[in-house]
Amino acid sequence: MAVLRNVVPQSRLSPAYRPLRPRRAAPTDLDDDPSLPPRDTLRWLKLATAVIEQSSRERPADAVLRQHLRDAGRLSNEEAAQTSQAVFGYFRWRGWLDASLKIESQIRSALELTAEFAMNPQTFRDADLLARTLPAWVNDSLPVNAAWLRTIQAEATLWLRVRPGRAKALSQVLGHTRTCPLLDALAYGGEEDLFRRPEFHAGDFEIQDVASQAVGVLCAAKPGETWWDACAGEGGKTLHLSAQMQGKGMIWASDRAEWRLKKLKQRTARAKCFNYRAILWGGGAKLPTKTRFDGVLLDAPCSGLGTWQRNPHARWTSTPEDVRELATVQTQLLNHVAPSVKPGGKLIYSVCTLTRAETEGVAAMFQAAHPEFTPLPMPNPFQTHKPPQPQQCLWPQGTGGGGMFIAGWRRSG
Ligand SMILES: C[S@@+](CC[C@H](N)C(=O)[O-])C[C@H]1O[C@@H](n2cnc3c(N)ncnc32)[C@H](O)[C@@H]1O
Repeated sequence: MAVLRNVVPQSRLSPAYRPLRPRRAAPTDLDDDPSLPPRDTLRWLKLATAVIEQSSRERPADAVLRQHLRDAGRLSNEEAAQTSQAVFGYFRWRGWLDASLKIESQIRSALELTAEFAMNPQTFRDADLLARTLPAWVNDSLPVNAAWLRTIQAEATLWLRVRPGRAKALSQVLGHTRTCPLLDALAYGGEEDLFRRPEFHAGDFEIQDVASQAVGVLCAAKPGETWWDACAGEGGKTLHLSAQMQGKGMIWASDRAEWRLKKLKQRTARAKCFNYRAILWGGGAKLPTKTRFDGVLLDAPCSGLGTWQRNPHARWTSTPEDVRELATVQTQLLNHVAPSVKPGGKLIYSVCTLTRAETEGVAAMFQAAHPEFTPLPMPNPFQTHKPPQPQQCLWPQGTGGGGMFIAGWRRSG
């Protein structure tokens, strides 16, 4: 069970809040190690091969993996962890592998690359990383750079968002943590299944990527305000806004997916977050309420390039058409939520992607159509010495987690 946390559902367009992080090193010299059982007993390798073969755009690898691990019967934690690492290692290094070989051989090569990159990253030349790590279309969509690729080829960090003021105490209890410029964020490097910790069940912390936490930080909701979290999903940011508001004021949390709102309700109950109202909203011009809000957060569906470190399968299933279509959806959603911002209120747009079309492109389209909104300068939460800007493009190499784009406006009085 402990390893199942590494294989949580991650839909292609809305990466979930839990990272994928196989933790145990898998053997790489499978043929040479006499201490290993004969190859036909390497169940994890067979399982990983089946998962890779069955994964597709419609069936993301993490979902297929979870199903296989569930159906596999008596699988040791180690085998399950090895299977995860093999699957994600394969997709992370897929562009480096010889596709004419059997999948099993490619998995072995991917695991060797994983180990080599962890130990000697300098032996990987920038030029090779740039040429082989991602599909070619990505170069036309954003300024691909070696620092980003070096970050996403390494294992992802697990981030916690801690109840305000509790970071030091929690860090002492859990151990294996490190802090970052975001006050309530802790990176966790231990082996424990955090979902079993009493502190988790008491709502002392959430698993939330540090880049997602940056969105909440820039919303800066205050006690007593009213907010609309328009694409609330499973409630990662609703919970953050509620913590900022100290439970005072009201948050409308909407999504078009009922099952996501169901999960949101489970999470809010555990976190003892009560100042919210969950409601279905399909993104159309007909709004779920006539309320005018102090703040509206649109954490929009996106191509998710900012999550490609922990979700490497998506690198090979996303397309430039997705980016184009999503940019249209994002612009529509922004246009639809804008009238709900009260004069003097804030509108925050965020996407966990870095493509020009879905970030600065959408922001420019919105600005052109809405002169009643003025760009709102916001600090870069990871580089607070820099002057505030109305758009923050946060790359994974700068956050230590995922990538995120955040734009802010204030509605004129
Ligand atoms: C990036 S995810 C939101 C993540 C969430 N804010 C969180 O922090 O956990 C985007 C969400 O938008 C929802 N969505 C997609 N298309 C939508 C639409 N047209 N109208 C409303 N919600 C939509 C998806 O169901 C998904 O939950």
